[in-house]
Amino acid sequence: MSINLESMKELLIFLGKSLFSVLEALVFTLISKPQKNVAGEIVLITGSGSGLGRLLALQFARLGSVLVLWDIHTEGNEKTCQMALEAGATRVYTYTCDCSQKEEVYRMAEQVKKDVGDVSILINNAGIVTGKKFPDCPDELMEKSFDVNFKAHLWTYKAFLPAMIAKNHGHLVCISSSAGLVGVNGLADYCASKFAALGFAESVLLEMHVQNYRGIKTTIICPFFIKTGMFEGCTTGCPTLLPILEPEYAVQKIVEAILQEKVYLYLPKFLYFLMFLKSFLPIKTGLLIGDYLGIFQAMDGFTGKKKV
Ligand SMILES: NC(=O)c1ccc[n+]([C@@H]2O[C@H](COP(=O)([O-])OP(=O)(O)OC[C@H]3O[C@@H](n4cnc5c(N)ncnc54)[C@H](O)[C@@H]3O)[C@@H](O)[C@H]2O)c1
Repeated sequence: MSINLESMKELLIFLGKSLFSVLEALVFTLISKPQKNVAGEIVLITGSGSGLGRLLALQFARLGSVLVLWDIHTEGNEKTCQMALEAGATRVYTYTCDCSQKEEVYRMAEQVKKDVGDVSILINNAGIVTGKKFPDCPDELMEKSFDVNFKAHLWTYKAFLPAMIAKNHGHLVCISSSAGLVGVNGLADYCASKFAALGFAESVLLEMHVQNYRGIKTTIICPFFIKTGMFEGCTTGCPTLLPILEPEYAVQKIVEAILQEKVYLYLPKFLYFLMFLKSFLPIKTGLLIGDYLGIFQAMDGFTGKKKV
């Protein structure tokens, strides 16, 4: 009898807490969540030499963070540094780092710890896309996609997470993609790498939760196409519901999500609805929707980033 009472109490507590969490989430869809202060935080952005990485650096410069900028391209990264200083940053450290090389990541991480200190906000943003149909995609390019888009996240976490755990303070940001939520024809290796990045970030989030490191936050970003040049030539068959996003808008939303400590951000909002449909509709219906929205033609005109 006492066992039944005990399990009833546990069930009621579980239901009460679950209901509270749903209501809390509902409230925060109506009013925006308070934003945390990131002034003085050491923010490392990979792939900061152009596109979203550069714009993220400028936003964190305005918010008073200390910037650590990593990119494989020195020139672009130095330009970001210059722009960040003009935007108000007082401490910016640039490093030329190929994030696909594990030993280089570890070496640079040690250097950062000596030069700057412990990174408290890690933004894994560096990314590449091959844009070839699977049978045409050379093995080396597929391996590179995994090395940059996913495996680099393993090495940066290995390098910077222990200090976050020691202080129970930190924020891990994974720039995945809508292609990390749903397969896309013509993007098989990219999708696989972005699914992997998302699964990894989500799993470490759970590890932190179970071990009670509540001071370590995770934010996972899944945007549709953004006009940075990475997906040059790609199209959307449904610009009203699935527009190709402006980089400034995407970055504003990403920074907002980080400051509000949101776990997931899908851009545009219509993606939440598509993912909901994917979870229960028959595959035939899904294919009809994909056809109707022109999703299967999205990669047809892909040219990608022009070489600089
Ligand atoms: N642009 C989009 O449509 C889109 C959509 C969804 C997700 N994303 C993701 O957003 C992130 C940023 O992309 P972007 O659109 O700004 O593209 P981008 O090409 O402008 O920026 C990517 C940056 O990563 C750097 N980089 C590439 N390989 C690297 C390596 N081995 N080591 C270090 N740096 C490296 C590049 O030099 C570049 O500065 C990527 O992870 C991308 O997959 C982009």
